[in-house]
Parts: sequence; structure tokens; C-alpha cells
Amino acid sequence: MAENAPAPIRMRGAGYYSEHTAGAKRVIDAAIPLVLGAIGRMDLSASAAPFAIADYGAADGGTSIALHHALIAELRSKTGRPITITHTDLPHNDFSSLFRLLHGLLPGRESLGLADLPGVFSFASGTSFHRRIFPDGTVSLGFSATAMHWLSRLPATLAEHVHAVGAEGAALAAFRAQAAADWNTILLARARELAPGGRLVLANFCIDADGHYLGWTGGRNMHATFATHWRGLRAAGAITAEEERRATFPQFYRSPAEFSAPFEDAASEVRRAGLRLEDCFTRVTACPYAEAFRVGQPAAEFARAYVPTLRSWSESMFAGALDPARPETERAAIIDRFYAAYEADVAAAPEGHGMDYVHCFMTIAKDV
Ligand SMILES: C[S@@+](CC[C@H](N)C(=O)[O-])C[C@H]1O[C@@H](n2cnc3c(N)ncnc32)[C@H](O)[C@@H]1O
Repeated sequence: MAENAPAPIRMRGAGYYSEHTAGAKRVIDAAIPLVLGAIGRMDLSASAAPFAIADYGAADGGTSIALHHALIAELRSKTGRPITITHTDLPHNDFSSLFRLLHGLLPGRESLGLADLPGVFSFASGTSFHRRIFPDGTVSLGFSATAMHWLSRLPATLAEHVHAVGAEGAALAAFRAQAAADWNTILLARARELAPGGRLVLANFCIDADGHYLGWTGGRNMHATFATHWRGLRAAGAITAEEERRATFPQFYRSPAEFSAPFEDAASEVRRAGLRLEDCFTRVTACPYAEAFRVGQPAAEFARAYVPTLRSWSESMFAGALDPARPETERAAIIDRFYAAYEADVAAAPEGHGMDYVHCFMTIAKDV
């Protein structure tokens, strides 16, 4: 693998992602009023073409199904246009689980599907949102939650930390510059894809005005805890110095100012491409697992329920940092040991652990 090439990102498959991410679903549910508001401002009679919905970075699709049901019900009350939904994600995503979920075929989650809704046609794309995915002017409503903090490349590896929130100096500047370039690219691609008058509703991870971000809202810092336990594996001789160093998330939590910047200058590429910012605000969504602990769940149970939600999205990065020459069973055992150490830490001292979500919600309009 080339230096600085991140390991393929993938959420845990077979429906594990959405089964263990109750918080991500809460975030998407909180975006439903924004999506319905965006539809309310669109002229649905301006075209007879199918109303095309895109869900960018949808993982197994389970967390956004309720939003799509609400969206379809709203559209159906206003227009007879056919509706298409395209779930997009990276090529390594478990699309097979996505299709089974959408068709109500995932055991235990049969009632959720979208397949039986009349006039609704479902598609998927494995093309990155850092590139164009749809033909020009064909997306009516784009949605994305909790995905655009993933960068197109890893701009630096961090010796002392696993995430840009712990970066300083030149490394932090490299992350910030990559995030700004990627944001511009993402917006310009969406500007091409959106139909005139179309809308983009986004719920992106951010750093808010209090300096808070995913996994740090004043208690135990999740990313620092990751770093501690990863270094612990090195101290115990379970991983090499190179494996320790390679574990860096290709992610960046932008601030609301960084999200808004391309919209502020009327001469910017993004504005000239026809995009306007309609809404932009931040919101903290409490970690449902930490909440359950606060109302009396025993510490060991909290740890057992909570750590899988971290694992659902972080595992591929840590596994990718391990030397590929190690047998797969050995890599799996190291990763199990890592999350077991995190779980034991939470079980022993549960106070302050939790993964509150900190998002910047945005509605972006394409000029008519
Ligand atoms: C934490 S999950 C969020 C899934 C879902 N949207 C939600 O909010 O629950 C992030 C998703 O973004 C996807 N992702 C990351 N980078 C991406 C990219 N460049 N293009 C498309 N999807 C991407 C990941 O593969 C993953 O499925």
C-alpha cells in the first residue's frame, strides 16, 4: 500500500452497523424536519421527471430508512411523480446487506423495507462522494449524514494520536487544508448533479463553538482513549512501532465557519456553480448508551453495549494499520484485544465515557 494511502474504509457488515448505531439514527431522525422543509420550498410541478433522492454515504441503509419513509410519504401527498432512491457508499461497503435491508430480507428487520412502496425505485452506487456520481441536473434531493468527515486521502500520520483532533502544527495544517479541498470538491460535484431548485440536506460531524466533537463533550475523550489503548498494545509488544504510527483516521471535523466559507464569497467557485446555504446550525445528540448507564444500567452492560458502536465505524482503520503480512487470525485477535481493553476500561470506570454526536446541519439550495 502506498505511503499515506488509508486502508479501505468500511463499516462492519451484515447489518451490524445500523444495529449498533442507535445514535446515528437519532441524528438522521432529527434531520427529518429539515428534509421536509426543503421539499416544502421546492416546486414539485416544475418537472415530470422522477423525483431523484440520493443518500450519500448510506452504509447499510438501516439508519436512514425512517427518514426515507417520511420523505416518500410527504412526496406522495404532493406529487404523483415516480421516486428513485439511490444509496451511495464506497466500493467496500456491504451493499449486499443494504439490498437485503431495503427489501425487508435481513433477519429480524423484515418490516423496514422500502421495496413495496408503489412508484418507488431503488438503486445503489459504489462511487465516492469525492467524485461525481450522477449525470448533470438529475438529483432532486441529496441527503448525507455522518459521512463527509472522511477525507479523500490521509494527509499525515500522527505519532502520538489517532485522530486530527489530537494533531498540532504542520500535521494539523495538512489535515485542515485537505478537509477544505475535499469540501470544495464535494460541493462542486453536488452542484453539477443537483437539478435546478434541488436541495442538499447534510448532517456532518463538526467541531462546535464549545470546541466539542464526536466523543468529547466534556467527559472522557473517545479519541484519546483509542490512542491510549492502541499505544497500550505497542507497550505490551503486540504491535510494532510502524503499526502504532500508521493508525490515523483519514478524517477531519470541520467547524461551521469552515463549512460556510465557500458560500460567503459571491465569486467563489461554489457560489458560481449555483449553490446557496439556506440553513447552518450545530446540534449535540446525546449518546444513547451513556444515557442508559446514567439511568441505572450496570457498568459491565453499558460497556458491552457501548463499545460495539465505536467498533462499527473504527475497526477498519485499526485493522488496516496492522502489517498485512500477519496472518488474518492474528490481526483479528489483536483487534479483538484492542476493543476488549476499551470495554474493560469502560466497565471499570464508566463515568464520563460516551460518544455524544456533534453535528453541523445544513440545507444547501441549487439556484433555479
Ligand atoms: C458512520 S457511517 C454513516 C452511515 C449513515 N449515513 C448514518 O448516518 O448512519 C459513514 C459512511 O460513510 C461512508 N463513506 C466514507 N467515505 C465515503 C466516500 N468518500 N464516499 C461515499 N461514502 C463514504 C462510509 O463507508 C460509511 O458507510
